[in-house]
Amino acid sequence: MPRENMWRQRRVPVPKRTIELIALVAISSTLFLFLHTRDLHSRLKKMEVRLQPGEDDVLSANQLSSEGVQTDSNPSGIIHYSNVQRTVTGKYEETLDIEALNNTRRADRQVLFFNRVPKVGSQTFMELLRRLSIRNAFSFNRDRVQRVETIRLAPIEQLHLARMVSSYSEPSVYVKHVCFTNFTEFHLPEPIYINIVRDPVERVISWYYYVRAPWYYVERKQIFPDLPLPDPNWLKKDFESCVLKGDRECRYLEGEVHEGIGDHRRQTLFFCGHSEKCTPFNTVGALERAKLAVEKHYAVVGVLEDMNTTLTVLENYIPRFFQGATNVYYDQLNSFTRINRNFFKPPVSEEVKNLVRGNFTREVEFYQFCKQRLYRQYRALKLRSDVL
Ligand SMILES: *[C@@H]1O[C@H](CO)[C@@H](O)[C@H](O)[C@H]1NC(C)=O
Ligand SMILES: *[C@@H]1O[C@H](CO)[C@@H](O)[C@H](O)[C@H]1NC(C)=O
Ligand SMILES: *[C@@H]1O[C@H](CO)[C@@H](O)[C@H](O)[C@H]1NC(C)=O
Ligand SMILES: *[C@@H]1O[C@H](CO)[C@@H](O)[C@H](O)[C@H]1NC(C)=O
Repeated sequence: MPRENMWRQRRVPVPKRTIELIALVAISSTLFLFLHTRDLHSRLKKMEVRLQPGEDDVLSANQLSSEGVQTDSNPSGIIHYSNVQRTVTGKYEETLDIEALNNTRRADRQVLFFNRVPKVGSQTFMELLRRLSIRNAFSFNRDRVQRVETIRLAPIEQLHLARMVSSYSEPSVYVKHVCFTNFTEFHLPEPIYINIVRDPVERVISWYYYVRAPWYYVERKQIFPDLPLPDPNWLKKDFESCVLKGDRECRYLEGEVHEGIGDHRRQTLFFCGHSEKCTPFNTVGALERAKLAVEKHYAVVGVLEDMNTTLTVLENYIPRFFQGATNVYYDQLNSFTRINRNFFKPPVSEEVKNLVRGNFTREVEFYQFCKQRLYRQYRALKLRSDVL
């Protein structure tokens, strides 16, 4: 098993001094992460460089785990940052409660609800689910292609959706682009919620070129022949000049609620829910609601940029549906990567990305939040296998 090999390599004996050094590095990155969750905007940009790799965090936590890790219960599943003093002297404490991190246990039915975010590789992921449905014997359901994708629903439509999903026989999966829908609110059994997130700026760029790709029109024209053809000047406009010229389409203003077609700047909307309070772009209110829904309801929120960790966590936290997922994914990798790949996407400079990033602070924070949670779930597995 590749996962175990990877781990064994990391457990090479290291001199004490090195361990202390690693400890220091671990503490500083831990503190950074801690501050990060509190600090809502200003320092985010500067810290991003540190937070991006993510893997470092996993690595150091594991190496230090042999120094003595507590796995006592902590209902929130939140890492403790106390005893900084002791940590500095080489002791790293991390409290990870695998049961608290496992929302699958809290689901009432074996029905997987994947309210997929667009442009996060979810087409590929949906195909993975389709193949897994054969391997692991569950039924696969998805909604039809919509003329205009409505992701925010009125309460009555939410109820219809929740009723329909609840009527599926077990085990089943249902896939749809839609905001987080709280089944409990309608007194219906809680499904197993999953989703995938992606770096919010990369995602917006991906969407920008996706809606301009010729095949996107050909496909939609076939389904809806009366759709008008887009303006050629709009088609030719590239993302960089759109941002630099301050074009309306590429201005990302805090608190904006307009919901025009192709306005895919809010990844958090898919987690926050259908409420009006979820629509203002890049706001603290929407961010906090989204985080709460993830913490409380989602079994796993994967990260596109780290499919290996995502697949391992899915396999272990939702085994009924995902056992063998890593193998299926890599066996079919070549055919998967062809799905929905856009060859019309020119590169975007880091300067322009950073300019945009500056207006996506809460979106970036939400993405980092999901990533940290995924790594906590992953580390909890490692701690458990250390004990075994
Ligand atoms: C970022 O937000 C500011 C206002 O806070 C606005 O002036 C600027 O145009 C925005 N930049 C982009 C790239 O959206
Ligand atoms: C979902 O609904 C239940 C029941 O009303 C409530 O307790 C829970 O907090 C809601 N979840 C979110 C994220 O709002
Ligand atoms: C992910 O896993 C695959 C198969 O186990 C491996 O070939 C690949 O190198 C891994 N990628 C990373 C980034 O670890
Ligand atoms: C999480 O809960 C599910 C359902 O009870 C169980 O099948 C799975 O093994 C659990 N995973 C972990 C890592 O505890």
